[in-house]
Amino acid sequence: MKAIILAAGMGKRLLPLTKDRPKPMVELLGKTLLENTMDALIRKKVSEIIIVVGYCKDKIIGAFGDSYKGAKITYVHNDDYYKTNNVYSLKLGLEKVNDDLILCEGDVIFEPEILDAIDEDAAKNLAFVSKYKSYMSGTVIKYDKSTKRITELVTKANQGKSFDYSDAYKTINVYYLTDKFIQEKFKPVLELYLSTEGTSAYYELLLGVLLYMNKQDLYACDVGDIKWFEVDDINDLEMSENAFSDNKLRSIDRLHGGYWRYDFLDFSYIYNSYSPSKIFYSKLSYDLPRLIGNYPSGQEKICKLLSTWHTEDTFNPDNLIVGNGASELIRIINKAIVEKITIPIPTFNEYENKLAEDKINYFKLPADAGFRLIKEDFVKSVKDSKSNVALIINPNNPTGVAVDRQDLIWILEQLKGVNVIVDESFIDSTGERDKYSVQDLINKYPSLVIIRSLSKEFGIAGLRIGYLLTGNKPVKDKIKEYLPIWNINSIAEYFIEHFCDYKDSYNESMKNMIESRDELYRDLKNISYLEVIPSSAIFFLCKVKGSAKELKQKLFDKFNILIKDCSNKKPLENEDYVRISVKTAEDNKKLITALKQIELEK
Ligand SMILES: Cc1ncc(COP(=O)(O)O)c(C=O)c1O
Repeated sequence: MKAIILAAGMGKRLLPLTKDRPKPMVELLGKTLLENTMDALIRKKVSEIIIVVGYCKDKIIGAFGDSYKGAKITYVHNDDYYKTNNVYSLKLGLEKVNDDLILCEGDVIFEPEILDAIDEDAAKNLAFVSKYKSYMSGTVIKYDKSTKRITELVTKANQGKSFDYSDAYKTINVYYLTDKFIQEKFKPVLELYLSTEGTSAYYELLLGVLLYMNKQDLYACDVGDIKWFEVDDINDLEMSENAFSDNKLRSIDRLHGGYWRYDFLDFSYIYNSYSPSKIFYSKLSYDLPRLIGNYPSGQEKICKLLSTWHTEDTFNPDNLIVGNGASELIRIINKAIVEKITIPIPTFNEYENKLAEDKINYFKLPADAGFRLIKEDFVKSVKDSKSNVALIINPNNPTGVAVDRQDLIWILEQLKGVNVIVDESFIDSTGERDKYSVQDLINKYPSLVIIRSLSKEFGIAGLRIGYLLTGNKPVKDKIKEYLPIWNINSIAEYFIEHFCDYKDSYNESMKNMIESRDELYRDLKNISYLEVIPSSAIFFLCKVKGSAKELKQKLFDKFNILIKDCSNKKPLENEDYVRISVKTAEDNKKLITALKQIELEK
């Protein structure tokens, strides 16, 4: 058996990595893509590997010479690589073949077990395929499940709005072709295809021609869970590094989002899993092209739209500023307002990130008092430190502990003249807004600044919306100085505009989250190695009897579940705390099953 690897292309989308080397020579976890492919071929006892080279070919020839681990290497030169496509490289390669063949693209990384199916079906021509996933793009195929014969090939252009991906598969660009099939059917069709379509066509479409001529004799071989990736750009490289790494968690921990590309259950970030409603999404998808094609409005209009969310007089456009996520506003406050800030810890890290140490007065929330904020001590600490800003996150992240409105009013009375930021990002999760929120008091207390992120409770972290509400004109004016003319995108504006139409479904979603939280609390309390802190928010801080780091690693490696280890939060650095978000009742059960299993193994 022989093999062809197509390795002539320039790999422009992987620049600058491909500035001085062809794509198959890009390294992934210390090994080039080409070595990975050749190792898989050697494992299948391939006697000769034909590599079609073009762009930076000396890099490949210099690295491998004329043999690799006992297999002969033959180079086929496609010196027209810059103006031809892989179908032409394939034609050149096939001129050297008179044997059964494994055909691979040089930019695919795959686990060698994929090729094991050849032994079972040595007389059949196989196209290795994988169930379609949302991050994949390009041509897909469909096949008859009983005969395994490929029945349809659908190019990207033909996958219309209503295309059904549920039974779609992606060809992974690895094939096994028998000599008989190559000589009698494949080569003649390839010649015909080249003579009509020219040298710039993709060979994937060849499958379409074979299908059309009823000459396919080509069977789909589903690779199931065996890992593979086509590495076209930096993003693919990052995802495949993650998939093939021995420690996937390490590479996930380096990211700060973009988790939709990965296949794990995320109990680390905090979202309302029941929001937004399906109707909102279907309306949005209808309007999406117009939203993407147009500029959003400026602050004034967006604040007007937001002001319809609450009936209080004080919730008006004059008092509002909308941010690209609350994080944008927090960063500006730190730059523009903070001379010294008192921050109860543990906290949401963005309030202290990028601030010089001497600008922060840390106020430690006592673990032995369940991380409650003792109001007298807090006020004393703010005054003693001469802070001009004091922060209260209500309920607090990561503890989930809430401060009563009455206590906040007492604090506001004591701290007149100090800018008191009350972050109400989790206020609806309390289920008792009236008992905790001070949003209506901004006129009574001019130094009160409300911050609210919409990411979590509304389940829209990707839209990036947060707001600030204050009656304090100097603070508002200062913050506006830092904002560009457009800081909110049009999809976010659309969400703000239409939210009131979906308010009932939001309230319903929050009810569901609160029910899920209460159930999760009962279940977590039964895990013997966790001490759960009661929470008014949609996450739990838990003390681990054992190593928090180890628990996080085990949950990820064995159960594909991500939780947050809080050792990056002051003052928990040398303690073992994790934060677990509430998800749907169904997902919560999966977490509890995993936690119980870990318990059994202890
Ligand atoms: C308390 C609190 N405030 C603000 C934010 C920032 O949220 P965003 O920038 O997504 O609106 C977060 C994020 O976790 C948070 O926990």
